[in-house]
Amino acid sequence: MELPFTEPFKIKMVESIYKSSKEERERWISDASFNLFNLKSEQVYIDLLTDSGTGAMSYKQGSAMMTGDESYAGASSYYNLKRAISDITGFDYFLPVHQGRAAENVLFSVLVKEGDKVPGNSHFDTTKGHIEFRKAEAVDCTADVAFDTVSNHPFKGNVDLGKLEDLLRKTPKEKISFIILTITNNTVGGQPVSMENIKGVRRLADKYGVLFIIDAARFAENAWFIRTREEGYSDKEIKDIAREMFSYADCITMSSKKDAIVNIGGFIAMRDEELFKKASVFNIIFEGFITYGGMSGRDMNALAQGLYESTDAEYLRSRVSQISFLGTKLKEYGIPVLEPFGGHAVFIDALEFLPQLPREEFPAQALAVELYIEGGIRGAEIGTLMADRDPVTHENRFPVREFVRFAVPRRVYTNNHMEYVAAVTRNVFERKESVKKGFRIKKEAPILRHFTIELDRL
Ligand code: F0G
Repeated sequence: MELPFTEPFKIKMVESIYKSSKEERERWISDASFNLFNLKSEQVYIDLLTDSGTGAMSYKQGSAMMTGDESYAGASSYYNLKRAISDITGFDYFLPVHQGRAAENVLFSVLVKEGDKVPGNSHFDTTKGHIEFRKAEAVDCTADVAFDTVSNHPFKGNVDLGKLEDLLRKTPKEKISFIILTITNNTVGGQPVSMENIKGVRRLADKYGVLFIIDAARFAENAWFIRTREEGYSDKEIKDIAREMFSYADCITMSSKKDAIVNIGGFIAMRDEELFKKASVFNIIFEGFITYGGMSGRDMNALAQGLYESTDAEYLRSRVSQISFLGTKLKEYGIPVLEPFGGHAVFIDALEFLPQLPREEFPAQALAVELYIEGGIRGAEIGTLMADRDPVTHENRFPVREFVRFAVPRRVYTNNHMEYVAAVTRNVFERKESVKKGFRIKKEAPILRHFTIELDRL
């Protein structure tokens, strides 16, 4: 018989989790103004809010931390990380930063001007935030197939090269800050981008003389999908696939809290010395001196090790298999999920799950709250609350879809936990008609409102 997938590691240290009652959770979520970000972690049983910074580090990362060099300038940990980044990405220049959005802040301070356009494939919310904060426009050129929840297209994260070229043709090149490609494409379901598509973006970047940046937060999962889904890559090493993906870009931003499996950290890596010098100025202002920029020596050592672990094929096989295990269970229970399953998360289609709720009542948030009350699961709304208001009209922006995302931390939960999550979701699905009303906004911030929003039940 075919052997089942197993994790290529065993567990050495564990953390207890508290199983609360429904009554407790009803009180807690109401006290949290129905915003799951406002809950205390002890109030959550299975935490699928994000896969960012929530992974379990390895014993090798732990031991690398013990040898961290905490010198302000020129620390050996910095050179250790520089070697790892150059080896994994092929970029010779890099700047450490404290997390992904800091990479955006530093790099965009050099490249994004008021009135610019920044085309890409469903920019992540902080990416969009950093673009709009600078009064530039994030132009979404995602391929339409991404919004078809049942299509089995293997690379739903792709950018539509036609839409992209259209924009590049119509816009003077001085008005294009750069093209940004997010791999995997988080916003549309952790869906991968094909090598073919990455090459296509390179061709357009060359043709129109603009920079091409990759948001590499989940580059290793993307490489895994290229290996398993794209012709010509099945016998290639993950590291070689990653190197090829990066070879087409001019620069990358990285939130190391995802695929590099550390709790905090990030970096910018690039080929061009001039860009490195310009970005260094902002790095020093915002993050710290260029040989630590927001990271301690021990964190840089853990990151260097994590980059290698994330490109281990057996680890990636178990990672992606666990996501698909959860997705398959949900599907068996008849729950509308986005397919194919992504690399880091399963996305539940809230518009189909709760069709009785109008968009104005934030159905994905209503579903996320029900799942929490039912079983203490914390998922995330990827819908109208996260989409923010239009910066010009201040009207709510309704994205094509409303999702609840179950993002699975790396190396943290077992498949029993996934079975539990599926069972809780099934129980809510069976009583879905009982959800008659959604929410209205009580208080919101002008940008990235979902983090701090306060809601009232209707
Ligand atoms: N880019 C992508 C594709 C991301 O998913 C994230 C974060 C960032 C950039 C920003 O990185 O958090 O280190 O500042 N995504 C997390 C998530 C928060 O839950 O999807 P950061």
